[in-house]
Amino acid sequence: MSDKVIIFDTTLRDGEQSPGASLNVLEKVEIARQLEKLNVDVIEAGFPVSSPAQFDAVYRISNEVGIIVAGLARAKEIDIKKAWEAVRNAEKKRIHTFSSTSDYHILGKFGDDRYGKTLQEKRETVLKMSYDMVKYAKSFCDDVEFSAEDAGRTDLTYLSEVIEAAIEAGATTVNIPDTTGYTIPKEFGYKIAELKRRVKNIENVIISVHCHNDLGLAVANSIAGLENGARQIECTINGIGERAGNASLEEIVMALNVRKDQFSFNTEINTHEIYNTSKMVSGFTGVVVQPNKAIVGENAFAHESGIHQDGMLKNRETYEIMTPETVGVPKTKIILGRHSGRHGLKSRLIELGYTVKEDELNEVYTQFTKLADKKKEVFDDDLRVLMGDEVFKEKTHYLLDYLNVNSGTASIPTATVKIRNKGEEFADSATGDGPVDALFNAIDRALGIQNQIESYRVRSVTSGRQAMGEVIIRIRVNEKSFSGRGVSTDIIEASAKAYLQSINQYEIFKQEIEALENSEELSNAV
Ligand code: KIV
Ligand code: ZN
Repeated sequence: MSDKVIIFDTTLRDGEQSPGASLNVLEKVEIARQLEKLNVDVIEAGFPVSSPAQFDAVYRISNEVGIIVAGLARAKEIDIKKAWEAVRNAEKKRIHTFSSTSDYHILGKFGDDRYGKTLQEKRETVLKMSYDMVKYAKSFCDDVEFSAEDAGRTDLTYLSEVIEAAIEAGATTVNIPDTTGYTIPKEFGYKIAELKRRVKNIENVIISVHCHNDLGLAVANSIAGLENGARQIECTINGIGERAGNASLEEIVMALNVRKDQFSFNTEINTHEIYNTSKMVSGFTGVVVQPNKAIVGENAFAHESGIHQDGMLKNRETYEIMTPETVGVPKTKIILGRHSGRHGLKSRLIELGYTVKEDELNEVYTQFTKLADKKKEVFDDDLRVLMGDEVFKEKTHYLLDYLNVNSGTASIPTATVKIRNKGEEFADSATGDGPVDALFNAIDRALGIQNQIESYRVRSVTSGRQAMGEVIIRIRVNEKSFSGRGVSTDIIEASAKAYLQSINQYEIFKQEIEALENSEELSNAV
């Protein structure tokens, strides 16, 4: 049995399901390019049937990278067909289909009598559906992955039957997700070992594991899976994902790398690209990496106490089990300024992992010089913000044209805004409790809307006195939340950008719903 571990990155699919994370198509394509540099084996680029934007992202990524691109599909013909259409142009493509197998899921999702009256009958329906849909996926694509959703809580005998049926139907990878992050390592490892022992022909396919982090055990469970026969790990950058997230790619890869004395497994990950990838994902998604996060947190290589610093000076191995350079943390800070040229800017951006096309360079350079005028020293984090905020931001829907806010200890805060949307202009003024409140009121009046602000967060994302301030906002419209992020050296401007972006997310959602309703095929199938 080979010791190569296939790294299946699902940052763009499960990771994007992280609360508050949302990526536009341009950002997804850029992350996919960076994941290719990181040298992951498979990118799960999205869930094509779920929305036109998801389809578009998977389609564009398929045309962009040379590694395997997977599209997710429920065990339904309509989903599988869409996933196929989205990945068919990829050099290497995979359809990833899944059915729910635990009793919790079966009784919840297949409660209707048409799926069977008893639990046993419903289980038979799910088993047949899994077999039929893997066969259907196989009619399009050789590389088919089947996942048994909530396998962690699925009865082992039934799980073995479903996995055996999927293999018989042609699945080339069988994935065992711990969807709810419920299992503990010895239990999860045992499940994989038993499947290996019980399921006919399982030795001819790749066993994959996909662990969620609800008990903080996703990485430990994934490694237990490897030790018991799995050879594919599904994971995300920074461990982002539904609820408490997914297994973190960087933690798994570095655990296997640093503890070679314990594991014989190897991955082909280019560990030097880990830091850039982490920064890019956090910058684009707005999901902040906790400072003490293993491998990529701001403090992961910081030594605060005197005893530690002294030990490090004498011998860095006293308190460091890997060097920051191994994961790509830069040794020295490169600072650009207003005298830096186009060439210097471009090469620094490329070193940070970004693609800068010649036709985009002029615009990036103009934005850079504006920033360098405001901030004397432009750090890597400033450049990352610039790329996320200016270059990969989709310039659609409502855009801020003009903003004026007056406030002071002895005056009523007043704001005036002008907003554009495809040639149309919207302008108005309003007062408020403070400058941000006045600003939001002015935007609401200009657009004729009234939103409930669910959360509003400000933090500084770069260093120094002229640090860039990031604002993250969540609004609630019709029982659904939409988030937006804005960055600027002026937090009022950042607030306006973030608020407009959250409104734009709602506009995009509305358009997607309309598109779904207009698609007869889809409305019949759901
Ligand atoms: O957690 C899960 O079960 C999933 C499947 C769709 C693989 O994300
Ligand atoms: Zn998942």
